[in-house]
Amino acid sequence: MKAQTASRIGVIGHGAVGSRVAADLAAGRVNGAVLAGIVVRGVLVDAPAPQLDLAQALEQCDLIVECAGQEALLAHGKAILCAGVDLLITSMGALADSRFLQSLEAAGPGRLFLTSGAIGGLDLLASGARSDGYDSVVVTTKKLPSSLLQPWMVQAQIDELTAATEPVEIFSGSARDAARLFPKSLNVAAAVAMAIGDWEVVSVRLIGDPTAELTEHVIEANGPSGEYCFVIRNKPSPENPRTSGVVPFSVLRSLESIVGVRGGLI
Ligand SMILES: NC(=O)c1ccc[n+]([C@@H]2O[C@H](COP(=O)([O-])OP(=O)(O)OC[C@H]3O[C@@H](n4cnc5c(N)ncnc54)[C@H](O)[C@@H]3O)[C@@H](O)[C@H]2O)c1
Repeated sequence: MKAQTASRIGVIGHGAVGSRVAADLAAGRVNGAVLAGIVVRGVLVDAPAPQLDLAQALEQCDLIVECAGQEALLAHGKAILCAGVDLLITSMGALADSRFLQSLEAAGPGRLFLTSGAIGGLDLLASGARSDGYDSVVVTTKKLPSSLLQPWMVQAQIDELTAATEPVEIFSGSARDAARLFPKSLNVAAAVAMAIGDWEVVSVRLIGDPTAELTEHVIEANGPSGEYCFVIRNKPSPENPRTSGVVPFSVLRSLESIVGVRGGLI
């Protein structure tokens, strides 16, 4: 096996996802990686590594993980890649903006990676897409209505959602609109669109279900390579009910696939 030095990792965001990612990196739980520092907007408290500003992170890191939201990705994504630093993202809903996606695809020499985040099956969906694309892909997401409230909603809609006693359809439309309108809740639709390399074929239904103890994603895809249906029911993160608790562990697994010195499932 080739000798390899550990990759220096920076984490942007220290909330439900970023704090667990940083803690596990600092504890040496990612083979081949060390935590260099953390970038947050305010003052970082109670963290396992120094706070860095973006310029320091670009100098000191081989790879930066975005765990901060679409706005942070829009603000920093291109600069990270252009500095020659690899970028692993969680907020892929930002890629619904096709001009932004093109700007990242044209940037480098840093490489852009997407974590599978809250869902699975992306490997098979991506494999099937290579055969001859899909005729239809539908992502149906069910969450607690309170976790789906958005600043752009009118009061009547907020009242309807807050008072709902049975499931209510909140959105039905394109993956692009879903990622834009529900930036913290429908990164999964963007992940599916990116996996299959086609935003136009993916449609999304979002259901607010007051009895939903688990966050549910059903991904149905039909095409020349076959018919696929993945059902995912995640426990919400105790720190942030909009985020599934498994997401930091997906990020850690993605990191290990990128920088790890051992082989394994990818
Ligand atoms: N791909 C997926 O399946 C999936 C699932 C859940 C969440 N996510 C993404 O992960 C993100 C983080 O989730 P979370 O639950 O940890 O959120 P959170 O609100 O708990 O934490 C967000 C953190 O990012 C920091 N932050 C926000 N804007 C920043 C900026 N511009 N620069 C630096 N730091 C900034 C905040 O201070 C906070 O520390 C979400 O916004 C969402 O986009 C993706």
